[in-house]
Amino acid sequence: MSRNPWFETVAEAQRRAKKRLPAMVYGALVAGSERGRTIDDNMDAFARLGFAPRVVGHQAQRDLSTTIMGVESSFPVLISPTGVQAVDPEGEVAVARAAANRGVIMGLSSFASKSVEDVCAANSNVFFQMYWSGDRDAMVQRMDRAKKAGAKALIATLDWSFSNGRDWGSPAIPEKIDLKTAIKLAPGVLPRPGWLWRFGKTGRIPDLTAPNLQPPGGQAPTFFGAYGEWMQTPPPTWEDVKWLSEEWGGPFMLKGVTRVDDAKRAVDIGVTALSVSNHGGNNLDTTPATIRLLPAIAEAVGDQVEVLLDGGVRRGGDVAKALALGARAVLIGRAYLWGLAANGQAGVENVLDIMRGGLDSAVLGLGHSSVHELSPNDLHIPADFPVVLGGADPASPTG
Ligand SMILES: Cc1cc2nc3c(=O)[nH]c(=O)nc-3n(C[C@H](O)[C@H](O)[C@H](O)COP(=O)(O)O)c2cc1C
Repeated sequence: MSRNPWFETVAEAQRRAKKRLPAMVYGALVAGSERGRTIDDNMDAFARLGFAPRVVGHQAQRDLSTTIMGVESSFPVLISPTGVQAVDPEGEVAVARAAANRGVIMGLSSFASKSVEDVCAANSNVFFQMYWSGDRDAMVQRMDRAKKAGAKALIATLDWSFSNGRDWGSPAIPEKIDLKTAIKLAPGVLPRPGWLWRFGKTGRIPDLTAPNLQPPGGQAPTFFGAYGEWMQTPPPTWEDVKWLSEEWGGPFMLKGVTRVDDAKRAVDIGVTALSVSNHGGNNLDTTPATIRLLPAIAEAVGDQVEVLLDGGVRRGGDVAKALALGARAVLIGRAYLWGLAANGQAGVENVLDIMRGGLDSAVLGLGHSSVHELSPNDLHIPADFPVVLGGADPASPTG
């Protein structure tokens, strides 16, 4: 009898992903950097926050819907942009369909394996993500293409600092998959016939190119070619970020903020939203968990821009906690990647249902009728929990 493909938690999706994926692909999704302290802290910190449930006064009707940068979402969770290479043959298109079926916004990475046109055709609410990479003409061309395809907002991810090296080892990712590499990779891939079959059925091999970075009339770069361009691009100033936002000319989210002073600068240059993010623990290890950084940033700028959070969200209860501490919504990364690896599009829908169900239970148990009513009063927050980076008080040890 075949196993029920439905899973009840994201942890179970991850266990299945580990069984199904070649170790190299699984390792690329686990990612993290150096000691892995930040990636662990992102998740552990959510567990340190407690709920303060009510016994009577629960609401029969609960509204989980919201808007993010003016775009409607059936509940406050977005798909975070990830370079999902080689997890599933349908990749970002499967994720976009799942998100559309659940009324959720799709963040699409410029390092994605599917084109922005195909993804926008699958989900009318796409936010396109870019790094500061290439010259200004190339960036304008990529933004114009995304706009023309129908992307409704731009996410600029600017926290990445090319940190590499993990104590548990990094997977060897090939430049491209041709016959020679296929033979070399065979010992790692053949023990995973299910994954191989998923690609075999489509007659395709995992594509390691970045089609959204293709220059007009040229070839799409390989993943590493794109990475090389990005590494060689001089990092942006605040003036450059302002230029990017003005060139886009629509809703603009700055992703990767961890400091209060940076959040204030982002407001000054006119962003629509920011995401408190440490790139899912993949960047500078020992950066504190994003949920610990959120309260100070929400307090400082939450009345001027939409403050979102990403990092460590694995349950609907985590979503409720982030909202209670001032986030308008959260972005999820690995959670949906585990779902995609475990069961394709249906696995991503499964993960979104888990998030929605857990959030609804929290809103019910806390006695609210809307996600907008969540507040710090709904939580037990340990005294040493919040962390302020770049605070205004120069006397503060982190100021
Ligand atoms: C495998 C992987 C690839 C990622 N690729 C991108 C990317 O291309 N662009 C981006 O803005 N963030 C990228 N991220 C970061 C995510 O958007 C998000 O910030 C992070 O995954 C959130 O943490 P979580 O995985 O704990 O939910 C990536 C993360 C992972 C795990």
